[in-house]
Amino acid sequence: MSSISGKKIILGVCGSIAAYKSAFLLRELQRKGADVRVVMTPSASNFIAPLTFSSLSHNQVYMDMFPDPNRPTSVGTWHIELGIWADAMLIAPVTATTIAKLVQGIADNFLTSIALALRAPLVIAPAMDTDMYVHPATTSNISKLKERGVIVIEPEEGELASGLSGPGRLAEVDRIVGRMEAFFEGHHRDLEGKKILITAGPTQEPIDAVRFISNRSSGRMGFAVAAAAANRGAEVRLITGPVSLETPRNVARENVRTADEMLSAVGKNIEWCDALVMTAAIADYKVANPPDRKIKKSEFADGSSKLELVENVDVLKSMASKKGKRVFVGFALETDDAIRNAREKLLSKSLDAIVVNNPREEGAGFGTETNRVTIILGKEDEKTELPLLPKYEVAGRILDQILKLL
Ligand code: CTP
Repeated sequence: MSSISGKKIILGVCGSIAAYKSAFLLRELQRKGADVRVVMTPSASNFIAPLTFSSLSHNQVYMDMFPDPNRPTSVGTWHIELGIWADAMLIAPVTATTIAKLVQGIADNFLTSIALALRAPLVIAPAMDTDMYVHPATTSNISKLKERGVIVIEPEEGELASGLSGPGRLAEVDRIVGRMEAFFEGHHRDLEGKKILITAGPTQEPIDAVRFISNRSSGRMGFAVAAAAANRGAEVRLITGPVSLETPRNVARENVRTADEMLSAVGKNIEWCDALVMTAAIADYKVANPPDRKIKKSEFADGSSKLELVENVDVLKSMASKKGKRVFVGFALETDDAIRNAREKLLSKSLDAIVVNNPREEGAGFGTETNRVTIILGKEDEKTELPLLPKYEVAGRILDQILKLL
């Protein structure tokens, strides 16, 4: 039986020439046993009639934000009700305009309103002309949605309606359905009722009022874990150092700056959580007594150009007394002798698992959208080497392990 069987899916259709393919997509999702409700943008109706979808789905098609008040089915809060009803929303095709509206939270039609009210995961399959697809506005919007945990089914390359050739053609129906199946297989709401505390990003340790010591952590890995955990139904609190990333949906975020602030934020939340995932790259040292004014160059002119450093508290180690049955997962970035060093950290920090990666490997480490990691488990002393994967998928594998440990 397909994992799609019995699932409640909202199929969103936007104004693209590929909109006719949504009819085939609808049929295929239904054939696999899904209960599908179709939502269209008004411009989609220029490409395909709502009647096609209502006939195929045997259900009302939702399009008008302010439907005819004389019709008995015209209830004004359908977008909220559908948003609660669905197990997932799939927008295929999604246009550049709707992608931009999703980023900004603009709810100016029925489809975008549902997307904003949606509690379930959102999957989008873009379709547009190549020049629109590769435009920095679109690529940056798609990246932002990915950061929030939206699953993007990339378009295919080929001949487009304009006669041009390149990426932008809606993914084939089979591929979209395959991704939805994989999604439902791997993403049951299997973390429902679990409370996960995640730290992310670098810390900044002030030198004076304007300067600081920090590191190159982008926070992406921790944000991916937060997004994936929330998509699987966990209650997620994310404590992050300074990063320029969007907060994933259904994630409660607290911003901190220094290692000391990170320590106190983790300390406040530790008793609440069932699992602690420490992806944060916490600075090992801070500057002793940084003045709250800018230090002048001349102050170092006498040759005393030295900063006095003091060691920061190890957040993980200091939580050991509160561990109890909680699952603790650490991260280790190692350039040399990675596995041995990571195993040592696992033992010294009372961890159940440690995720190790090497920033010198292609596609791994700072600022990338992918990562190649090895997960080392404490108990069995067992290790799983993962291939190069998008950080969201790496996050999924880490959560699979956490679920087993919980
Ligand atoms: N960590 C922590 N508190 C610190 C430093 C690190 O809780 N002050 C956590 C990190 O969030 C990570 C794990 O410990 O999950 C390992 O971090 P890492 O910087 O690799 O370890 P260190 O003990 O600092 O070792 P080193 O820098 O010497 O490799």
